[in-house]
Amino acid sequence: MTTATHIPVLLKETLEALAIQPGGRYVDCTAGGGGHAEAILQKSAPGGQLLGLDADPEAVVAAWARLSHFGAAALIVNDNFVSLESVCLGNDFAPVNGVLFDLGMSSLQLSESGRGFSFKHGAPLDMRFNPAQPVSAEDIVNCWSEADLARIIYEYGEEPHSRGIARMIVRSRPLLTTDELASVVERVVPSRGRIHPATRTFQALRIAVNQELDHLASALEQAVSVLGHGGRLVVISYHSLEDRIVKDFMRREAVSCVCPPGLPQCVCHHQPRLRIINRQVIIPTPAEEYANARSRSAKMRVAERIVSGDVRQEDAVRLKNPAGKGRPGGRRRPEKLRVVFNSN
Ligand SMILES: C[S@@+](CC[C@H](N)C(=O)[O-])C[C@H]1O[C@@H](n2cnc3c(N)ncnc32)[C@H](O)[C@@H]1O
Repeated sequence: MTTATHIPVLLKETLEALAIQPGGRYVDCTAGGGGHAEAILQKSAPGGQLLGLDADPEAVVAAWARLSHFGAAALIVNDNFVSLESVCLGNDFAPVNGVLFDLGMSSLQLSESGRGFSFKHGAPLDMRFNPAQPVSAEDIVNCWSEADLARIIYEYGEEPHSRGIARMIVRSRPLLTTDELASVVERVVPSRGRIHPATRTFQALRIAVNQELDHLASALEQAVSVLGHGGRLVVISYHSLEDRIVKDFMRREAVSCVCPPGLPQCVCHHQPRLRIINRQVIIPTPAEEYANARSRSAKMRVAERIVSGDVRQEDAVRLKNPAGKGRPGGRRRPEKLRVVFNSN
């Protein structure tokens, strides 16, 4: 029985940032429980369309349950957003008016998936968003070298006790459950007030298992490619490693020269593809933080596609009037809502 619900974070701000228009087309790269997706479809009616992706087949089922009443306006695909461009092109869903990433895990995955995302719930050491992925947290914890474990715990968890934790993990093998791993970490890391000693180690393992940072960097590139002229890129992140990738990506895409400093003249011929919409990162209000503890670390960044080098000019022109005759993409959507499970 489901006891937890996932409350969409920064919902009002997300809808504003996406500049939702009736008849617009949007991609939700992290459909999760469908909270943001549902609000996007409501606001883009009449005629709005949404393509939702999620790597987790259980999340896809949950999103589908929530969105089925939108019929043909919604298409949910079980795939990793590292395949964003091919999923969009394969479904004739580009260019689009907006792309949303709401990164990390949903409350349901944390508390009820039984896949070991949280040290608070005893479960097998898994942490894969998609159980079909080849490498689980158990493989990493039990098979990687001490040096590699220390490296990921330091780099992805920003954990100062990474070497001691890695040493203790190797000595305590085999480790099969979240409880076992958490108690090993507790033997090395002193208590840090409200933050559990294992928080950073669990974050590091989850990032490594799902290759989260590499996939994010690749997906941001692809998002720019599928955005039409004037389309919005909105990213909500939950830790500094993700936020740094998003910030650096948007900054680089917003400048007209990326030459190393000191060159007498520009040789890179870099073309800006984004305009940054919010110079200051957007964070939840105190009221939202109070109502939804999960929102506390959220940071939203927003940018707008400013040139249309990757999409056909005729499509970019159509995007300016998405509800009108020249709907982006041209072809009609299928009559019924579809759920697609791609192998990944
Ligand atoms: C914070 S939840 C999204 C919640 C959603 N916005 C809502 O309102 O219900 C993040 C979701 O992204 C999915 N996810 C994380 N990394 C992914 C990736 N690389 N590709 C596809 N989905 C991913 C997770 O499975 C999870 O369901």
